[in-house]
This record gives sequence, structure tokens and C-alpha cells, in this order.
Amino acid sequence: PSDFRLTGRGAAKVVVLGAGVAGLTCAYELGKAGYECTVLEARDRVGGRSLTVRGGDEVPELSGETQRAEYGEDVYFNAGPGRIAQWMVTLDYCRELGVPIEPFINNNASAYVYNTGMKEPVRIRTARADLYGYIAELLAKATDAGALDRRLTEDDKERLVEFLRRFGDIGDKLTYEGSPRRGFAVYPGAKEGTPLGDPAPLADVLASGVGRAVTVDFGYEQAMPMFQPVGGMDAIVTALADAVGADRITTGARVTRIAHVSDGVEVSYRGPEGSGVVRADYCIATLPPHLLAKIPNDFGADVRAALAVPRPVAAGKIGIEYGRRWWELEDRIYGGITETDLDISHIWYPSHGYHGRRGLLVGYYNTEENALAYGRLPHRERLRRALAQGEKIHGEKYRRDVLSAVSVAWERQPYIEGAWVRWPSRGAAFSLLQRPAGRVYFAGDWLSHLIAWKAGAMESARQVVTALHRRVMTEP
Ligand code: PHE
Repeated sequence: PSDFRLTGRGAAKVVVLGAGVAGLTCAYELGKAGYECTVLEARDRVGGRSLTVRGGDEVPELSGETQRAEYGEDVYFNAGPGRIAQWMVTLDYCRELGVPIEPFINNNASAYVYNTGMKEPVRIRTARADLYGYIAELLAKATDAGALDRRLTEDDKERLVEFLRRFGDIGDKLTYEGSPRRGFAVYPGAKEGTPLGDPAPLADVLASGVGRAVTVDFGYEQAMPMFQPVGGMDAIVTALADAVGADRITTGARVTRIAHVSDGVEVSYRGPEGSGVVRADYCIATLPPHLLAKIPNDFGADVRAALAVPRPVAAGKIGIEYGRRWWELEDRIYGGITETDLDISHIWYPSHGYHGRRGLLVGYYNTEENALAYGRLPHRERLRRALAQGEKIHGEKYRRDVLSAVSVAWERQPYIEGAWVRWPSRGAAFSLLQRPAGRVYFAGDWLSHLIAWKAGAMESARQVVTALHRRVMTEP
């Protein structure tokens, strides 16, 4: 990307461990600056967690089960990352590499909220209208009654109430009595619309727990518009790998040892064609810290202790392919996400391929305990459980027209073993690993402040290659 360039030609050899987003970005940027890079990747494909599953793909798991995707043509499942915020450097790489992007609908008022205890799911627009409406009423009336007089002048009060009237659609009486914002049973057309009926009382709205669902997109990471590469998230890692050059990347190469030698590093691996050793001036290790720690190395006790600090987090997704886009046809949901407190957590509707014949839903995207619970099951059982949960929201049609499904439990993925990491605190260990251990540098989203985003891996990669390049250019 235009704002980032290593100036001057670096003449050194770098061995990069891992062909995920961090490793590929390192090799790509170093390659542009004249370095000779070799990338070793343990899995049989590049991309790491940037995994897009298509028909014919095999998805092995540590449990021993291997799924074979039966998806139809044009159907894909982003099993890892799925959305990109506008401010993220990921979009600069898409621009530079010519990867076309399209909007990803992260927030759809027509999607549902469904929490345990609800009689039926509620559209997000309805939940939002009721919550905002009642909150506006409470605050406006408290203001009117003088409860906030110590904080507000008469002018403040007037302006606040004026805003709250808009915010909650509460009228001159400052009372929430429902609003067209809730949506309709039958939407207006040639005839007047049929309203949904009256909102539930305030206490019921509060008890329904829709607060999380109507605020998930408030943060800077989740705000609309968000984006996705056209045709699958792996377009980014594919483009990076093409730019690096297939001849510089060895897949199926499992690193067995990392050691310093005079003026360099030596990385031993077991590869598709037997054992090998790569000698280089520098190494950039982008493996997950919990796996890197297990590889024999000479990093020193402090670095080894630091690698044990970040803890892997479990997450899982299932991509269910349907022969009919019933969410568009019957529910009028075009992209977006349904929020639920069930163990599936979310249902993602596709943000592309509208009105096509087939389509793929993400039937769960869960983390921690819920992800572990699904991960322990064989794939067929995961699907069964996901369908039973989704049926509570969408009814019986959720089971009809299922064509096939693939599920990924990230904590069970070979050479990955986690969806991302959590730092108990980003203290001394974090800063230590941001510096090299001798000639070995560390990079990855786990070393950034954007964990679980490709942008974190890219930013970390850029920081590391900058430091490495500065060292090469100033070393005698
Ligand atoms: N980036 C991932 C996602 O958007 C995980 C994540 C979720 C990270 C929410 C931060 C906040 O689903």
C-alpha cells in the first residue's frame, strides 16, 4: 500500500515460518525490497485461518475426522475471517493486489434477535425501536420532572428532550407507544400497512435481553459498511502468495528446530520430500505462540516463558448450503446477522449471490465453551445440533432444502489449534515478543492490538519487516 514502502534494497536471506496472512505479508513486502525469502508452511495450503471452503475441498481435523465439502459451484464458506472494516489495512492490500471487494452486510434491521424464553424471534428493527423508545421515554420524563437539574440547564434540557423525541419516536407526550420503526405485519403499498401490534411493556423488553443484539455494530471494528473480497476471503492470501511466488513457498513443511548459527539462523523441517534445512540471515516466525513454543529452539528462557502467556481461544463455524434461498424468499433477509443467546450465537446470511438458486448460511459462529461443545462432536452431530437451534428461529424450513455442510473447529485444526489468542494482559511478554530473539522475529495478529483480524497480522508483519530492514541497512 502506498503509505508503506521499505526504502533501499536489502540484500539478505529471510526464512519465514508460516504462510498465513502475517507470513505472506512479510514475504511480500520483503520481496518488494529485494530480499530473498523462503516460506515454510506446515499445512498443505497457504492462508492459515483465511480459509475459504469450496466443493471438493477436504477439511481435516485433529480428531481424525476429515470432511469433504460437497458444495455446489459458486458456493463457498468463509470458515475463518469474513468481514473487513473500512479503516483496516486489509483493504489497502486488496487495492494494491487487485482483489475486488463488495459490501458485507454486518447489520441488517430485518434479521432477527432470538433469546431463550422468547415466544418467537423479533426483527432487530423491532427490538431496536422498542429499546430506544422506552429509554428515550424514561430519560425524557426524568428530565422533564427535574431529576437531572443538577447536571442540565434549561437549554440543555430542552435540547436533550428534542433529541430524545427523535431518538425514541416518542411524540409530544414523551411516551413510547410503538412506532412504524418497529416494522409491519404487512408493509405499506397501495394499501395502508398492517402494524405489528403494540410493543411489549418496558419490563418485558428489558427482560428479553435484546440490548447486546442491537449494539453489536456500535464498535469501530464492526460498524457498517464492512467489506469482503468477491468470491471468498481466500482471494487475499491467494493474491499475496501469487505475488510472493509459488517457488518461494513450501507447503507440507513442518518445522522441527530453530537454531542460531554464526551470522544466521538454521531452520530444520520435515517436508514432502524428506527432511530439509534452510539457512538464512534472519527468520520471521509467524506460528501461533502455543505451537511455536513446542518447536525445539534456542530463544532463551524469557522468550519461552513469554510464548506461554497468550492463551488460545476456541471458535467454530458451520457453513450450511441450501438449495433454496428461503431467507430471501420467505423472510426477506438480504445479508446480515441474526443474534441469539443459543449456543450457535449467530446466523450469518450471505452478502452476495442474492436471488441465486443456492446459498450458504453460517449456522453457528461461536466461541469458548459453546465452540468447545460443538467441536467435540463429530461433524454430523454438529450439523444436527445447529439445525435444531436454527429451527427455533426460522421454523421447520430451516431443515428443508439442506444440501450439505462443512464445520470447522479452529482449536482442532492441525498446525493452528485455536481461533485466536487472548492475552491475560499485554504486559512484558507482549513487548518482549515484539522484539527479535537474536535473529528470529515474531509476527502475527497475536502480536498486535487487532487480534483476530487479518489487519492485525498485516500490521504486525509491516512492523517486523520495517525493524528487520532497518537492521540490515545499518549493519556493517
Ligand atoms: N474478527 C472476528 C470477527 O469479526 C473476531 C472478532 C469479533 C474480533 C469481535 C473482535 C471483535 O468475528
